Amino acid sequence: MTKRVAILISGGGSNMVALAESMTGDHPARPVLVLSNDPDAGGLRKAADMGIPIAAIDHKPFGKDRAGFEAAIDAALRAAEPDIICLAGFMRILTPAFTSAWEGQMLNIHPSLLPKYKGLHTHARALEAGDEEHGCTVHEVTAALDDGPILGQARLRVAPDDTPETLAARVLPLEHALYPAVLRRFAAGDRTRIDLQS
Ligand code: GAR
Repeated sequence: MTKRVAILISGGGSNMVALAESMTGDHPARPVLVLSNDPDAGGLRKAADMGIPIAAIDHKPFGKDRAGFEAAIDAALRAAEPDIICLAGFMRILTPAFTSAWEGQMLNIHPSLLPKYKGLHTHARALEAGDEEHGCTVHEVTAALDDGPILGQARLRVAPDDTPETLAARVLPLEHALYPAVLRRFAAGDRTRIDLQS
C-alpha cells in the first residue's frame, strides 16, 4: 500500500521539494498535502506548481491559543489522511497533545547533529563551540523539542573560514540528500539509521 505523506513547512520549502521530487516511481509513498502556518511561504507555490494539494493555516490570528491553532492543523491533516507527516522547516513549536496524537508517524529535520544544538541558531552555535563537525539530523518527533529517536544524520567538516551563512549553505544540500533517504526507508517500514558523510 502506498503511504500518504503530508509535509509541513514555514518558508521556502527546499526540503519539501526534495522530499516531493523523491516520491516517484517505485517509492513507497506519495505527497498528499503541503501545509504552511505562513500563507506567504514560498514553498506553497512550489508545491502547487508540482500539483500537490496545499493548505495555509495562519498561526497569527490564534494568538496565544496554541490548542486552537493545532486543532485547525490537525483537522486539515486528518482530512488528507496521511500515514506520515514530515516537518520540513516548520518553525512552530508543537505541544505534547499534538505530537503524541501523531507519534510514530511524524518526522522532523533539524540543522544540527542532535543531541547538540536543539532549537535555533544551530550553525552559529556549532561555530562558537569550535566544533570540527556539523550537519543535520532526521528524527521521529516526540513531545520534547528536537528530541526523539534519530533515524539519520549527515555530517561535514567545519572549515576554518566558515560563517553561520556558509555553514547553513553547505548543510542544506546534505538535508536534501538525507531527508528523502530516511523517508524512503521509513515509508517502507524500516527504521534503520542512515549516516551520510560528505
Ligand atoms: C532547514 O535548514 C531546516 O533544517 C530548518 O529550517 C530550514 C528550512 O529550509 N529547520 C529548523 O530549523 C527546524 N527547527 P527549507 O524551507 O528550504 O526546507
